[in-house]
Amino acid sequence: MWSRNAFTDRLNLKWPILQAPMGWLSTPTLAAAVSNAGGLGGLGMWGYSAEEAERRIAGFQQMSGGGLNANYPLWPEPKITPDISEPMRARLQGHFDAKGLGAVPEPSGAAGEVSREHLSMLVRTKPKMVSFHFGLPHREIISALKDAGIFIISSATTVAEARLLEERGVDAIIAQGTEAGGHRATFTGVDISLQPGLFALLPQVVDAVKVPVIAAGGVADGRTVAAAFVLGASAVQVGTAFLRCAEANVLDAHRAALREPTDACTVVTDVITGRPARYVKNELIEDLLASGLRPVAFPAQLSLTAPLEKTGDRELTALFAGQSAALATRDTTAGAFVDSLAEATSECLRAFARA
Ligand SMILES: Cc1cc2nc3c(=O)[nH]c(=O)nc-3n(C[C@H](O)[C@H](O)[C@H](O)COP(=O)(O)O)c2cc1C
Repeated sequence: MWSRNAFTDRLNLKWPILQAPMGWLSTPTLAAAVSNAGGLGGLGMWGYSAEEAERRIAGFQQMSGGGLNANYPLWPEPKITPDISEPMRARLQGHFDAKGLGAVPEPSGAAGEVSREHLSMLVRTKPKMVSFHFGLPHREIISALKDAGIFIISSATTVAEARLLEERGVDAIIAQGTEAGGHRATFTGVDISLQPGLFALLPQVVDAVKVPVIAAGGVADGRTVAAAFVLGASAVQVGTAFLRCAEANVLDAHRAALREPTDACTVVTDVITGRPARYVKNELIEDLLASGLRPVAFPAQLSLTAPLEKTGDRELTALFAGQSAALATRDTTAGAFVDSLAEATSECLRAFARA
């Protein structure tokens, strides 16, 4: 049975389907629905204080007795310099003026880290899994989480990154292909144009490491889940397709864009947040790319572009999406989506076994 392996046994999962933790777009309701359906729900902790993060975990626990993946993207304090921020603010001012939004704010942003408060909260609340994006935190943090019995994972965008994560003691590795929506997980500065697609990356990572490998990037229906298992995955992590679920915290403009994507509507760019991420291309991205300006350091660039989302205009909104957005064909609920994904995968693999 494709759905039973060492990874699912260790995490007590019915289905090896992880809902990607997607910052503030992932909600306790979404994660609980996924875990209740037999997958593993994920909650992004980006930007939340330890108290807020604990409330998110408690909210999940009120709705589900299943496992939870609490996620921490890691990045240094942004270095903000006027030579970069002022031309960028001037360029964005045109968009702000057109929508009557006033002055573009001063850029701001803090480091993304697992603070002492977050660590003690995690050790106390014990989510089944803690995942990281953009590398791993200090060894002592990993040891403390592992001593608490928490399963640790992080993403790799190349074989070399996967080997580094394994050396640092992760329990499993997410192989993130370039198809993926959201930020590139690279923590070694892999050039975007060199990042492999999942079809090439996944079997090479599987061959290179001993720990279970989770496939991410473009997995959105039964065929793509089945393909990931044939290529050696122990589980899949799905992001973009879960944005079509009612429980996800997705703006109306973003939802509208996700209803009519094509295979070639997305672009990877750093102009929205300061780090490369994949979005449905729109006028804001086109204008900032045409400007040739460097974005302010991540995530401070987001403090300049995010106010434009208040307009409700999809041409000015960050439309995070992966290349397989068009494979997620229906607005649905998370439990129904997990059920249909698992059933479609089983059917797909049965059909191949019969052939
Ligand atoms: C809207 C959005 C936000 C994301 N935010 C995070 C995040 O905060 N942390 C993280 O580890 N991965 C994040 N990801 C990346 C996912 O973990 C995963 O690599 C990706 O969604 C897989 O590709 P797919 O979108 O084609 O399914 C995000 C993805 C999306 C689409």
